[in-house]
Amino acid sequence: MIDSFHKPVLTNEIVKFLAPKKNNIYVDATLGTGGHTLALLRKEPNLTIVGIDQDKEAIELAKQNLQQFKNRVIFIQENFNALVSILALNKIKKIDGILFDLGISSNQIDSNRGFSYLRNSKLDMRMNQNTKLNAFQIINNYKERELIDIFKKYGEERFATPIAKRIVKIRMKSPIETTSQLANIIDQAIRKRNLVKTKSRIFQAIRIVVNNELFSLREALKDCLKVLNVNGRIVAISYHSLEDRIIKKFFQYESLKCICPPNLPKCGCNKIQTLKIITRKPVVPTDEEIKNNSRARSAKLRVAERCYNERKINEYSNHYL
Ligand SMILES: C[S@@+](CC[C@H](N)C(=O)[O-])C[C@H]1O[C@@H](n2cnc3c(N)ncnc32)[C@H](O)[C@@H]1O
Repeated sequence: MIDSFHKPVLTNEIVKFLAPKKNNIYVDATLGTGGHTLALLRKEPNLTIVGIDQDKEAIELAKQNLQQFKNRVIFIQENFNALVSILALNKIKKIDGILFDLGISSNQIDSNRGFSYLRNSKLDMRMNQNTKLNAFQIINNYKERELIDIFKKYGEERFATPIAKRIVKIRMKSPIETTSQLANIIDQAIRKRNLVKTKSRIFQAIRIVVNNELFSLREALKDCLKVLNVNGRIVAISYHSLEDRIIKKFFQYESLKCICPPNLPKCGCNKIQTLKIITRKPVVPTDEEIKNNSRARSAKLRVAERCYNERKINEYSNHYL
C-alpha cells in the first residue's frame, strides 16, 4: 500500500512540534493519503486523530493506508472551514493540536482532474467533487477583467493581461476544454521559451479560485482558536506566499497583547493575546529532503501555541485580515 502514499513533507518536524502524547486528540485538517497522520500514530499509537479532507478519493486512499489504525482515526470528507461543526458533530469539545499541509497532493497532481498542465485532462481542478464551480467555467465564462484580476491576485503573474486576452480570443471560436489547450494558449500569448513558472502560476491561480482556498484557510485558522486546548498547537505548511502571508499575519496579530498606537499613554484596546509564536522564522526542508521530494521545495512550516485567555468565542476579531 506504501505506493499510494503522497510523500509527506517535513514529517520529523511535524511530529516534533505536535509532540503527541497518550490520549491526545489531534486534527489532521488535510489528511491526503494519511502520511503525516501515520507518522503521528507511529510515534504515539494512543492518539485519536480526526482526519479531514474534502476530496473523497483522498479519504478512500487514507482509509486503505491507515487500515492498521482505523480505530484511532475518524475520517471526515469535508472542507476544513467547517472545523467547529465537524468536531461538534463528533462530540469533541477540545483538541490538542491541528495540522494543515495545504494545497494539493501528488496523487491529485497525477490524477486526470485537471490540476496540472503537464497532464492532458479536462479543466476541472475541484478538490471536492461535489462543488459546482470548476476551472472550465472560469476559463470559458469569466470576463477578461476578472481573469486578469485572478491571474494577478492569486498567481502574482506579470503576464496576466496578454494571457487573459488570448483566452478570450480563442474561446470565441470554441470552448477551451483541456489543460493542454490552456497551456498552449499561455505559450501563444507570451511567446517565450521557458514558461514553466508562468504556467504553474496561472494553474495555481485558477485552482485557488475554484476551491476558494484562501477563504477556507482564514476561516479555519479563526476556528482553531475556539477548539484548541491551552498549549495546543497549530502547525501549518504552506507552499506559496499567499497562504504563508495569511498564516504569518494571523499568528502575528493573535500573539499581540496590545494594538494601541505607540503614543497612547495608556492601553485602551482590550486586545488579548491568544497565540504564542513558536517558530519566529518559518522552518524549511533540508537540501536532502528537497533532493528526495521536489514538492518540498517551496514548503514553509509555521507553528503557534494557544495561550490562556478568557475571551468569548464571538469576540474573535478579523483585524489581521
Ligand atoms: C498536500 S495534501 C496533504 C497530504 C498529507 N499531509 C499526506 O501526508 O498525505 C493536501 C490535501 O488537503 C486537502 N485539502 C486542501 N484544502 C482543503 C480544505 N479546505 N478542506 C479539506 N481538505 C483540503 C486536499 O484535498 C489534499 O488531499
